Amino acid sequence: MSKLKEEINKRKTFAIISHPDAGKTTLTEKLLLFGGAIQTAGAVKSNKIKKSATSDFMEIEKQRGISVATSVMGFNYKGLKINLLDTPGHKDFAEDTYRTLTAVDSVVLIIDCVNGVETQTEKLMNVCRMRNTPVIVFINKLDREGQDPFTLLDEIEEKLSINVRPLSWPINIGDRFKGVYNIFNSSLNLFQVNKTNIEEDRVEITDLKDSALEDYVGKEDADQLREDIELIEGVYEPFNKEEYLKGNLAPVFFGSALNNFGVQELLDSFIGIAPSPKPTHTDVREIIPTENKLSGFVFKIHANLDPKHRDRIAFFKICSGVFERNKFYHHVRNEKKVRFSNPTSFMAQDKSVIDQAFPGDVIGLYDTGSFKIGDTLTEGEDMTFKGIPSFSPEIFRELINKDPMKSKQLEKGISQLTDEGVAQMFIQQPGNRKIIGVVGELQFEVIQYRLQHEYGASCDFQHRNFHKACWMTSDDKDKIEEFVRRKSSYIAYDKDENPVFLAESAFLLRQAEMDYPEIKFHTTSEFKV
Ligand code: G4P
Repeated sequence: MSKLKEEINKRKTFAIISHPDAGKTTLTEKLLLFGGAIQTAGAVKSNKIKKSATSDFMEIEKQRGISVATSVMGFNYKGLKINLLDTPGHKDFAEDTYRTLTAVDSVVLIIDCVNGVETQTEKLMNVCRMRNTPVIVFINKLDREGQDPFTLLDEIEEKLSINVRPLSWPINIGDRFKGVYNIFNSSLNLFQVNKTNIEEDRVEITDLKDSALEDYVGKEDADQLREDIELIEGVYEPFNKEEYLKGNLAPVFFGSALNNFGVQELLDSFIGIAPSPKPTHTDVREIIPTENKLSGFVFKIHANLDPKHRDRIAFFKICSGVFERNKFYHHVRNEKKVRFSNPTSFMAQDKSVIDQAFPGDVIGLYDTGSFKIGDTLTEGEDMTFKGIPSFSPEIFRELINKDPMKSKQLEKGISQLTDEGVAQMFIQQPGNRKIIGVVGELQFEVIQYRLQHEYGASCDFQHRNFHKACWMTSDDKDKIEEFVRRKSSYIAYDKDENPVFLAESAFLLRQAEMDYPEIKFHTTSEFKV
């Protein structure tokens, strides 16, 4: 096998997604403990912005620092290189999470067994479904009085529109939680509170009728487990890896991240089934990871951690070939040759300069402002990766310059912040009005703070009552032109100068759809350059 192929097969790049508080930080930390990437619990800082800190800007700045450190956590496990991409915990930064999901090959979805499927979980799953990302479900907090596991599975299937297949099964729940039976390899994993050792205590029980089961969990729970497993085998199809890889079927595991329980089981199953880097699509052709020539894209940008320097780190996902330090690459949008003298890899909490990186890896490229999200690097070919969409914001405000002497600074600042993906900007005529769209209120505060501190510009926001920004497609270009002309006061242009319809309400959007059946209105767009 070629070295490139070998390296690709070793890599598993994934993200953990969940509704805030379901246990993402805790699970991340336990996975890193198993991977030997950290030695003590508490080493992973939560990158969530505490609710009380909504107007504490220093906290936001601190969190930005933490989130660079934890953006990518690479670790080695059983001969594989696992790349765990972090996603922001705060819902107001959901768009950052959506973009990170474009750079992973699979996800682990955590569900809190007390709260079940929550709103944020549904939104994140919609993004996974757009890309058919394989999903493994981890039902967490079994040590708490949660919902009945069968009810939870039904809820997942119904609300997340995905078929599930339990591969482990809990024995009781809450105070009476005794452990998990691994259906996949017929072993019993007995629960202990606050385990300090990271290895799990497994007992092999190949036949559930074996009376040894009763010795471990008691007669009543043993009988219940036998009944549950029989029901599972009757109701659910056997686990089919192909269906999982196509994103149609999610295997489900149960455990308690805080108690380090069920985590190794999850990790071992993950490495057994999760995909290595997959082919990706560009506007020109499909890219196979084993191609010799480098290609990849920027999915995230972190800027100005030190306000004295204008440097940024662009997070670059390698899709094919080998990335090499100091080699010239083709920056497709800028049509320029670029090279990087200190590309950085991320191994858990450490950053280090690397000479080479392979498909599946995410590296940090230092840059002074030439990248924007979605940018592609190649060895000469002109193409752009697809599937890095921009989602309609949910809140819109007009940016008002408070200091006319600083309008240049404001222009530059807002342009750079929107390149970074902090918010989306739409330009509306007449008057080049800047409509800023975000997912959560907190983003406006971040923009205001950063414009002031990094660019010396001061701004205000004026409420604009839009419901959604819709991109438009049609086989009949004239129809779009006609619509744009007729609805000019509701039309604005995105950064790539595509017209978008700013619909004031769901009703008016439906009305437009009825009046213009030839036009398709989309609430997501690809970042085309
Ligand atoms: P997040 O990143 O998804 O937002 O969640 P995080 O891991 O921070 O976990 C949220 C809360 O849930 C934390 O408690 C954490 O200790 C707790 N938790 C995580 N896994 C389990 C589990 O298996 N069982 C139980 N009972 N609790 C769990 P907190 O009080 O909000 O924070 P902390 O003070 O413990 O850090």
